Amino acid sequence: MRKINKICCIGAGYVGGPTMAVIAKNCPEIQVEVVDINQKRIDLWNHENLDLLPIYEPGLKEIVGETRGKNLFFSTEVDKAIEEAEMIFISVNTPTKTYGKGKGQAADLKYIELCARNIAKVAKTDKIVVEKSTLPVRTAGAIKSILDNTGNGVNFEILSNPEFLAEGTAVDDLMNADRILIGGDETESGQKAKDTLSWIYEHWLPKERILQTNVWSSELSKLVANAFLAQRVSSINAVSALCEKTDANVAEVSKAIGHDSRIGSKFLNSSVGFGGSCFQKDILNLVYIAKSYGLTEVADYWEQVIIMNDYQKRRFADNIISTLYNTVSGKKICFYGWAFKKDTNDTRESAAIYVADALLDEQAQIVIYDPKVSEETIYSDLDYLGTRSPEENRKLIKVVKDPMDANKDAHAIAIMTEWDEFRAYDWKAIFENMLKPAFVFDGRRILDKDKMDSIGFKYYKIGQS
Ligand code: UDX
Ligand code: ADP
Repeated sequence: MRKINKICCIGAGYVGGPTMAVIAKNCPEIQVEVVDINQKRIDLWNHENLDLLPIYEPGLKEIVGETRGKNLFFSTEVDKAIEEAEMIFISVNTPTKTYGKGKGQAADLKYIELCARNIAKVAKTDKIVVEKSTLPVRTAGAIKSILDNTGNGVNFEILSNPEFLAEGTAVDDLMNADRILIGGDETESGQKAKDTLSWIYEHWLPKERILQTNVWSSELSKLVANAFLAQRVSSINAVSALCEKTDANVAEVSKAIGHDSRIGSKFLNSSVGFGGSCFQKDILNLVYIAKSYGLTEVADYWEQVIIMNDYQKRRFADNIISTLYNTVSGKKICFYGWAFKKDTNDTRESAAIYVADALLDEQAQIVIYDPKVSEETIYSDLDYLGTRSPEENRKLIKVVKDPMDANKDAHAIAIMTEWDEFRAYDWKAIFENMLKPAFVFDGRRILDKDKMDSIGFKYYKIGQS
């Protein structure tokens, strides 16, 4: 094992930013440099007002405030940081491909490849390269091949160290990780590299929680962990549809099955559908890999998790349309929440985008309030779908900063994100503000049915008749 003095992380996003901040906090003797090609993002990481950091995570600004300028640095000087560091984390984005072979399923590795080529070009001393982005199995091999064949003759050890942090709880997940997975070559130098990375995490985590595997197991475990979690959400969402047709209540069913210690209670909350940058992407990746090995049944099995999730979003939108007398044309529908879950400003793959799209197809007018998501993000999410022109999206959609402005004269409210503040609203006042009959479609099951009924709302709760 070798002690490390300087770390560099390429990619100052949702993964790179919080992960490096936590490493810097726990390893004061290590200098951590986070680099990105996006100048605007780096400027925000360096902004003196910590409320303007590009990523919102509870507890993050405190850690950045404590470490920035001491042993945590943000810059766009990618080459310099690579050259100086002994260990390089790659945390660039790996979106699903939108073109060519594997379109819509495979991960787009162009950013990773560019990174690897850059490291090869710049590095003049031996480096440990850690893949932190979610990558399809066997990517480490591709990175190694690029580094070894285009490098300056220095030695590269490639490790896979998948990130299991969930957004909204990133800092806590990093500080108290259930497990850290480190995959590397089963050679002497590979073992040394794994121990070196393990040493970093041992600064704050017990050694038993740090698991070492071969590279392929580590890469595959990340995809499989997310596929299993997403599968639980799709399973309970499938049950929610059944509950709505019967007298069963999905929360009671979840509780009843979750008490079985073999099943466990987590990830059994029925919702309008899972979102986020990982679940769908990782499952599509798993599906793509299975197909590429001719494992059709395996691919179909996992694809069903996505099909069920799409069905849930569509079902929610269809229910709004049919309940509002089969037409939402010109009707004002208020969306509470746009983020894919509470406590984050991330909207990637958020169910709200797809539900809004379905309602806009029916010419609804949507007024959106989310405590953390900007107007610019909401418009760009819809523009990105390409269903309508940007002008049309701006005509049909309004984004407001005051939650009471959103419900004024609305026909219905759709709760898309489980923000705590929504529970605390004065729902009587909201009822007064709306057109009658006033509908609430609770896609997150956050409100009390009896209370909503007693106020006079026509209240629909996902998973309950
Ligand atoms: C996930 C994994 O949890 C994390 O380990 C991995 O590193 C990245 O992907 P994240 O996408 O941040 O994290 O959020 P997560 O809390 O897992 O939620 C994903 C989606 O599932 C959200 O839209 C959430 O609202 C939804 N969900 C989650 C449910 O609908 N019901 C549940 O019971 C749990
Ligand atoms: P994630 O959720 O995986 O962290 P993000 O999109 O939030 O993904 O962050 C990835 C970051 O990586 C972006 O800020 C992007 O600008 C940066 N990035 C992509 N390619 C490179 C590169 N070659 N060099 C430096 N930064 C890069």
